[in-house]
Amino acid sequence: MVRFVTPLALAALSATAFAAQKCSTSSQCTDETYPCCSQYGECGTGAYCLGGCDPLSSYSLDSCAPMPVCEEKTYTWENLDNAVSQDKYLGNASKADWTYSGKPKTEDGNLIMTMPKNSVGTLFANNHYIWYGKISGKIKSSRGKGVVTAFILLSDVKDEIDYEWVGADLTNVQTNYYWQGVLDWHNSGNISVDGGDTFNDWHTYEIDWTPEKVDWIVDGSVQRTLKKADTYNETSKQYQFPQTPSRLQMSLWPAGQASNAQGTIDWAGGAIDWNSEDIQSKGYDYATVGEVSVKCYDAPSDVKKTGDKSYLYTNSAAMESDVAITGNDTVLGSLGATGLDMDLGANTSSTSATTSAANSIPTTNGGSGGMSNSNSSSSADSSSSTGTTTSSGSESTTSSGFSQGTDVTKDNGAASQTEHVLRGSLFAVLVAIVGLVTL
Ligand SMILES: *[C@@H]1O[C@H](CO)[C@@H](O)[C@H](O)[C@H]1NC(C)=O
Ligand SMILES: *[C@@H]1O[C@H](CO)[C@@H](O)[C@H](O)[C@H]1NC(C)=O
Ligand SMILES: *[C@@H]1O[C@H](CO)[C@@H](O)[C@H](O)[C@H]1NC(C)=O
Ligand SMILES: *[C@@H]1O[C@H](CO)[C@@H](O)[C@H](O)[C@H]1NC(C)=O
Ligand SMILES: *[C@@H]1O[C@H](CO)[C@@H](O)[C@H](O)[C@H]1NC(C)=O
Ligand SMILES: *[C@@H]1O[C@H](CO)[C@@H](O)[C@H](O)[C@H]1NC(C)=O
Repeated sequence: MVRFVTPLALAALSATAFAAQKCSTSSQCTDETYPCCSQYGECGTGAYCLGGCDPLSSYSLDSCAPMPVCEEKTYTWENLDNAVSQDKYLGNASKADWTYSGKPKTEDGNLIMTMPKNSVGTLFANNHYIWYGKISGKIKSSRGKGVVTAFILLSDVKDEIDYEWVGADLTNVQTNYYWQGVLDWHNSGNISVDGGDTFNDWHTYEIDWTPEKVDWIVDGSVQRTLKKADTYNETSKQYQFPQTPSRLQMSLWPAGQASNAQGTIDWAGGAIDWNSEDIQSKGYDYATVGEVSVKCYDAPSDVKKTGDKSYLYTNSAAMESDVAITGNDTVLGSLGATGLDMDLGANTSSTSATTSAANSIPTTNGGSGGMSNSNSSSSADSSSSTGTTTSSGSESTTSSGFSQGTDVTKDNGAASQTEHVLRGSLFAVLVAIVGLVTL
């Protein structure tokens, strides 16, 4: 079973730093006040209950907020008006199509995902879930040893369909899939990208995901197909096929950073060079994203449908038949709200979630969903590893009022046995807890 290692480094900004509970499918959040298990394996409220919140690791199946349904859309990048930083989003996907951490920017109509020296890069996550559909991205990967670019679909219960570019190899893109986070190192496959390298040349990468199969399509040609029928497990009588509502996530992250597990570094082609030519000339490593489009397919015909706003898990088996389409709202009232009480703090906290004292809304551990804030990637050289010990090593820093732990690896207990168990895309961002507030 996968364990999601997330270092927790709370700045001792206030005298009472709050230590977030860790969570996983085998150890759910136990405090109803902080019921949501974030994508990074920590219990909290607010952003922790939104994109990536794992219902199987949370206090209860309904702790996470309902997931906004698929929206067919084509994204271009004149500006970042449709994106908000991770700690500002409250679940209204109509207001912001994307949440991000790190330092993205736009240039010539493209999205540039940057990774300045010693940072943990950029994550761009779409707020509309996709429950079968086709995603397309025109992408130029980053380059250099240790630098990984990712374009993936990831569900809250860790079904996953990936493209990943390792900067040391600009002739291939790696593909992979997972079902409920179960590691199987036979699932990866390389696609050789013809006609120019992945850094200098535009290519179009697509994932065509239906209830029956996944196609990985590069420049219009199907290069790999996964059939659901071929994922059947005779023992468990289950299809180990990605089958739950997923978000599109694009990221750039330093897999080859020294604090990562050796297996991760090796997979990434070696230690990252923080004085790479791109860092010297531009100030950062980067990946370039052009037009991205999402096409939504119909949900399975036997789906339980009571509305058209959101997807909800109805059963902890978390298979296709355990997802309903409902009319439930997806928006939280505040950073202290959760799926259990979505209106909590609705009219008190929007402006000052981080400053209100004597307030019954749990704001600590409510801000960032275990992800970095918009300023988080600035620098990581003042390491102050408070409370960050993981077997795979990690790093944490404190800066300007935010505490951030950096973890772009995961520890799955198997990293030493195989280098192919890496799912860095899940960990493409650091953790940054806005540890400012006390109750
Ligand atoms: C969805 O909405 C129904 C009706 O308002 C409510 O009873 C239920 O608790 C909601 N479920 C979740 C998970 O929010
Ligand atoms: C979400 O945002 C849209 C666009 O700004 C707005 O019209 C709508 O009322 C918001 N919904 C909720 C529930 O806040
Ligand atoms: C994919 O290519 C990398 C080199 O870039 C290699 O290390 C890896 O073993 C290949 N994976 C597969 C499944 O062939
Ligand atoms: C099939 O299911 C069994 C029982 O859940 C599990 O132990 C086994 O690892 C699964 N096989 C694969 C290839 O995942
Ligand atoms: C907050 O909302 C409650 C009901 O939802 C209302 O009674 C109260 O007056 C509101 N407070 C403010 C300051 O708007
Ligand atoms: C984020 O960085 C900008 C400048 O880069 C600065 O003006 C702003 O105050 C910072 N915000 C926080 C919360 O540190």
